[in-house]
Amino acid sequence: MPFYHRLGNLPAKRHVQFRQPDGSLYREQVMGTKGFSGIQSILYHIHPPTQVREARFLRDWTVPLEEEGANRHRHFLTFEAPKGKDPIEGRVHWLVNEDVAIATANPTETMPYFFRNSDGDEILFVHEGEGVLETIFGDLPYRPGDYLVIPVGTTYRLNMKSEQTRLLVIETTGEITPPRRYQNEVGQLMEHSPYCERDIRVPKKLQTHEEKGTFEIRVKARNRLHSYLYDFHPFDVVGWDGYLYPWAFNIEDFEPITGSIHQPPPVHQTFAGPNFVVCSFVPRMYDYHPLAIPAPYYHSNVNSDEVLYYVKGNFMSRKGINEGSITLHPSGIPHGPHPGKMEASIGKTRTEELAVMVDTFRPLRVTKAALSYEVAEYMASWLPEETEG
Ligand SMILES: [Fe+2]
Repeated sequence: MPFYHRLGNLPAKRHVQFRQPDGSLYREQVMGTKGFSGIQSILYHIHPPTQVREARFLRDWTVPLEEEGANRHRHFLTFEAPKGKDPIEGRVHWLVNEDVAIATANPTETMPYFFRNSDGDEILFVHEGEGVLETIFGDLPYRPGDYLVIPVGTTYRLNMKSEQTRLLVIETTGEITPPRRYQNEVGQLMEHSPYCERDIRVPKKLQTHEEKGTFEIRVKARNRLHSYLYDFHPFDVVGWDGYLYPWAFNIEDFEPITGSIHQPPPVHQTFAGPNFVVCSFVPRMYDYHPLAIPAPYYHSNVNSDEVLYYVKGNFMSRKGINEGSITLHPSGIPHGPHPGKMEASIGKTRTEELAVMVDTFRPLRVTKAALSYEVAEYMASWLPEETEG
């Protein structure tokens, strides 16, 4: 999506004859969004992508939700959830609404199938692990700190090459883009953007597979999971070009915007999605006004829910937060630093915190699965120390 890209062999013009060595036509496929008005790519297949041997319904993707109680601040320990399964089946969903679902995965098994999310773009944030995101658009090697942005309709498989893989997964119902305010009229990232095109990694190697056999693609569509069987490898593309393809951006390449006094969360914004934003809190210099308070002020996110996923480092405004913790500060009630954290931040010159934030503009619901790993006393953690147990 960030810019025009092409890999492999293409005919000189679109929609003209492009022949295989045996004289038959390559099968041209236009993959476009928003009808034919959004971004698109054109792929050339060895086989018609329509040749499906079998179609089956597997399961509903909808996750059971908790019965809602008092609106309150929540804290979940994602590292306590059991590891296992593959990168798709191993997803544990924590928070969901109509626009976004936030999950984690700690997979141990390889995917014996390919996956495609046809409901919206996905972000896989790689907390731990290395490997290759294998896609119909080519390979994208990944490492810790990578945001892997996978557009709607992209057939992929995660080839994990580490003992331990931990992912934060953001499933959406729409398109993920860099923040519009950082782009000029043709989409180029401008000078005030905290990252630029050089920081964005795109598929460089297109693997064209000609193997025959039985290959399964599991497709999430209409919030249900389906299975399709093909007689040929789904990565049978010899060339493609366009704006729709997966890309990677590493959180370490986010250049923080700092100031003499506290900078608001939008300076950390990394991506925009439908009714939500994703922000990166990265190691940075603290505010340098002589009277600055580096910790944030109390704030009421009046009409948005704030989710933080803590990656590493000591998060400046919180206590009792672990690596892999998710906190939810919902709309309707103010939140802010824990007792003592404002005072403790004064005079500090730097933070090493690393966290991913998702702010949603519609309320999130907590899943039933999340309740088993909740720190129930979190809401009381702003009370003065002496009243705590
Ligand atoms: Fe906040």
